[in-house]
Amino acid sequence: MASRAPIQAVRADFLDPSLYDDTGLAGVPRLSRGTLLTALSRAFDLAEGRRPGHAQRIAYIGVYLATELGLDSARIEEVFFGCLLHDIGMAAMPAAPRVETGRGSKLISGTASAREVLAAVPTGGWVDVLQALTQHCDVGSKIVRRLGLGEAVAKAVASHHDCWDGSGLPGVQAGERMSMVARIVAVADRVESMIDAEGSPLLVRRRGPQLVREMAGSELDPDLANTMATLASRDEFWLGFYDNDLAATLMSLNYGGIMGREDLFDFLGVLSDIVDSRNGRESGRGRRVAELARRVAIVCDMTERRADLVQVAALLQDIGTLGVPSHVLSKPDILTIDEMAIVQLHPTYARDILSEVPGLGAAAWWVGCHHERIDGKGYPGMLEGDDVPVEAQIIGMAEAFDALTSDRPYRRAMSPADAFEVMRGLGGTRFDPYLLDRFESTAGPFQA
Ligand SMILES: [Fe+2]
Ligand SMILES: [Fe+2]
Ligand SMILES: [Fe+2]
Repeated sequence: MASRAPIQAVRADFLDPSLYDDTGLAGVPRLSRGTLLTALSRAFDLAEGRRPGHAQRIAYIGVYLATELGLDSARIEEVFFGCLLHDIGMAAMPAAPRVETGRGSKLISGTASAREVLAAVPTGGWVDVLQALTQHCDVGSKIVRRLGLGEAVAKAVASHHDCWDGSGLPGVQAGERMSMVARIVAVADRVESMIDAEGSPLLVRRRGPQLVREMAGSELDPDLANTMATLASRDEFWLGFYDNDLAATLMSLNYGGIMGREDLFDFLGVLSDIVDSRNGRESGRGRRVAELARRVAIVCDMTERRADLVQVAALLQDIGTLGVPSHVLSKPDILTIDEMAIVQLHPTYARDILSEVPGLGAAAWWVGCHHERIDGKGYPGMLEGDDVPVEAQIIGMAEAFDALTSDRPYRRAMSPADAFEVMRGLGGTRFDPYLLDRFESTAGPFQA
């Protein structure tokens, strides 16, 4: 038998950084809220433990249904954001609640409704589960308000697990007391879960309309469910649903308006707070690190526009931790090798998600490299020397310094002087010594 060629080890430089450099470093791109959130919704899917594109598919269903119903453009936009952000509360919760189903456990937001939770939890314990279910709806609606997406969207997120017949969460709105936007989001969420559970596109194409009708009047508004069932019998609906370019189509709608520089930083600041919350860190830490990184970039002779992009990258540097199970993130003990490997995926998750955002290709590359070390012992690519981007080192330095000067469960915060001492010890291994000098000259006054 002919011997097979050995599998080549994956080279650290198999990804070409120039693939990501789509900006010409022209500063922060002009992005709509809808474009940015469409891309970042993949991180929210990870936090929820759902298949990539889950939130995007719900947004597609919601917008398709709202358009069929003849809603005006402002309502359709609310439906879009309600669908895309329905489970954003899961991303901000340090310990995502799970429900035991008898066949293992799954994250509670993966279940379609409170009705299903009650059915899934054998005996007792369901009060805790329902409270947790309520919590992610509440947390999600607060985030939506902070993002400035309006009360209608916030209320739709708050009630996305409610049932039409009132069998949902205790004390919540149901039936016609739910707004039309909230009812459409609930339909889209249930329908996507139903499609996901069926698995085969051919099976779901055949059985889908009937399965949707079975929820009419119980879980879902009967009129909306019947309209949805009609849409689900159209090939056009399914072609759009399974379209590989679905994300690009949703981005091109540019819902929520184009953000100026200040709006963008405010928006990203809220998203950074979500990541802080998920990681059990004080709110505002990510914004502080990003501001410091920006100042260091200026001192390292970067232009204002490039420094802006460094700040954007720093704000989003740990968005990939939404893909790390919360019990790993919050584990008080030393991580196992397997758990460490999961944690070390977070720069790759972030790079892949951010590279989908028009104009953030370079920032995606820097974020993907923020745990690299110049001695080649970092992750995920084990890049060496000059291959580690200066911008990634600046972000890594700002993050390390802030961590050292913050309280930890196992130690008190270090003084800036002690933290600089520790960081100097990383010169020539983790960071470039010249950059460390620049960093110290900036971070010292920043602390004062
Ligand atoms: Fe969901
Ligand atoms: Fe949910
Ligand atoms: Fe990180």
